[in-house]
Amino acid sequence: MKVGLCGYGNMGRMHAQLVGKHDGITLVAVADVQEELRARASKDLGVATYDSGEALIDAGVADVIFVCAPTYLHAPLSIRALNAGAQRSRWA
Ligand SMILES: NC(=O)c1ccc[n+]([C@@H]2O[C@H](COP(=O)([O-])OP(=O)(O)OC[C@H]3O[C@@H](n4cnc5c(N)ncnc54)[C@H](O)[C@@H]3O)[C@@H](O)[C@H]2O)c1
Repeated sequence: MKVGLCGYGNMGRMHAQLVGKHDGITLVAVADVQEELRARASKDLGVATYDSGEALIDAGVADVIFVCAPTYLHAPLSIRALNAGAQRSRWA
């Protein structure tokens, strides 16, 4: 499974580390609205970055979306991911 992670704050960084511990699951992209955190994700993980969770979802690069953005974005990002065909959304 290819995972795209929306939000590289506290929970996003924790989940990014957990993804790497499971066979058959690869973190392929991270999104954050903060440029500094996109740069950090790129340095930490060597993955593609997007300037919003919406952009990551719309790019269609992930099978599974982890929603680690602020609470008010959980529903809209999850619905967007499901409508785009994601297998499952995860709330942090
Ligand atoms: N911190 C905890 O211990 C904890 C525990 C359980 C659940 N949660 C939940 O996890 C969620 C995130 O909490 P956090 O502590 O990681 O917050 P955080 O502020 O550290 O991280 C959220 C990140 O989302 C980014 N973001 C905002 N809008 C975005 C968008 N449109 N697309 C992509 N990224 C976007 C922000 O720039 C930020 O980096 C919250 O709903 C919180 O309630 C947090």
